[in-house]
Amino acid sequence: MRIIRVDASRPKPETLRPAAEVLRSGGLVAFPTETVYGLGALAGDEAATARVFAAKGRPASDPLIVHVRPGWDLSAVFARVSPAMRLLMERHWPGPLTIVAEKHPAVVDLVTSGMPTVAVRAPSHPVAALLLDLVGAPVVAPSANRFSYVSPTTAEHVARDLGDEIDMLVDAGRTPIGIESTIVAVDGNTVTVLRRGSVVIDGAGDDIDAPPSASPGRLVVHYAPRSRTRLIEAGASAGEPGGSGVVVGYADSAPAPDGWGMVSLGDRADLEDVARRLYRVLREVDAAEPPTIAIELTGRPGLGAAIDDRIRRAAGGRYLR
Ligand code: TXA
Ligand code: MG
Repeated sequence: MRIIRVDASRPKPETLRPAAEVLRSGGLVAFPTETVYGLGALAGDEAATARVFAAKGRPASDPLIVHVRPGWDLSAVFARVSPAMRLLMERHWPGPLTIVAEKHPAVVDLVTSGMPTVAVRAPSHPVAALLLDLVGAPVVAPSANRFSYVSPTTAEHVARDLGDEIDMLVDAGRTPIGIESTIVAVDGNTVTVLRRGSVVIDGAGDDIDAPPSASPGRLVVHYAPRSRTRLIEAGASAGEPGGSGVVVGYADSAPAPDGWGMVSLGDRADLEDVARRLYRVLREVDAAEPPTIAIELTGRPGLGAAIDDRIRRAAGGRYLR
C-alpha cells in the first residue's frame, strides 16, 4: 500500500493525481471525506467494486454509496431527479447528505446489492472533491473499516484495518465531522431518514427503527468495538456493575464505578466535538481490551440523536446492568 500525504484544506492536483490514476485503472484507494475515511473504487468497474466488498469482509447484501460532484449529470445514476431530490441537493450538496432513490439501469447490481434504489452523495471535503474531479466519474466508497467495526476517522485507523487490502491511502489527517453521512430515502415528495447524521432535515419522517431487512445498513450491532459494549442512560450513573471496565462519558458525567476507568468524549454541549472524537476514543479504548466498555448516551436531539444512534448500535442496544 502506498501512502500519499495531502493538505486537508488545500490539496494540490499534482499530489492527488496518482490516486486518481489508481482509481481509474480499477484499484482501491482509501481517502478522507468530511465524515469518515472511505474505501474508494470506480463505480462503473464491477471487478473493482467486488474487491471493495472482499477487502471489508462486507456481505454482498449491503449496498454501497456512490460519490459524485454536485454539478455532474446524474442521468445515468438515478432513474430521474425529482424536484424534491433537486431541492435536497441544492441545499446540502456538497456535504454529508446521502440521497437514496430509484436507480438508473446503468448502475451495476453489485453497487446496489440488487436493490431498485441507489445511494448517492457529494462529499464536501476538499480532498474528496478534488479526487472526484480528477477521476471524473462516480466512485463507490463505504467507510474504510472492516465490516461492522468502528468507522475510521484517521488514516492510521484505515491502515490498521485495511492496510494489506488496498492499493493506496490518501492521508489528510482527522476527518472534521467524525460520524457517517445522514441517509434519506426520497420517494415522490416523501423524505424518510434511514440513518441519522449531522444533516438534520426538518419535516422528514424517520424509519430508523424499522427492521434491518427494510434497509441493510441498519443492523442492530454495527460500528461496534470488539470488547463487550453496553449503554448508560444520559445523565445516569453506571451504578455498581461490579467487574471492571471503562466508562465512556462526558465532562459532566457521574464518576466511574469502583474499579472502572473513565474516558471523556468532552463537553456534551459541544456535540460537534463529541462526534469528531467518538470513533477515535472508541478505537483507543477498545485497543486496551477492557472486559466491558460502557458508553453514556448524550440524550440530546439533532446531532446528539445521530451520536446516540451510533452508541446504541455499538452496544447492540444492551444496557449495563
Ligand atoms: O459518510 C458516509 O456516508 C461514508 C463516507 C465514506 O462517504 N460512507 C459510508 O458508507 O458510511 P457505508 O457503506 O459504510 O454505509 C452506507 C450505508 C450502508 O449501511 C448501506 O446499507 C446503506 O448506506 N445503503 C446503501 N445503499 C442503499 C440503498 N439503496 N438503500 C438503503 N440503504 C442503502
Ligand atoms: Mg460503514
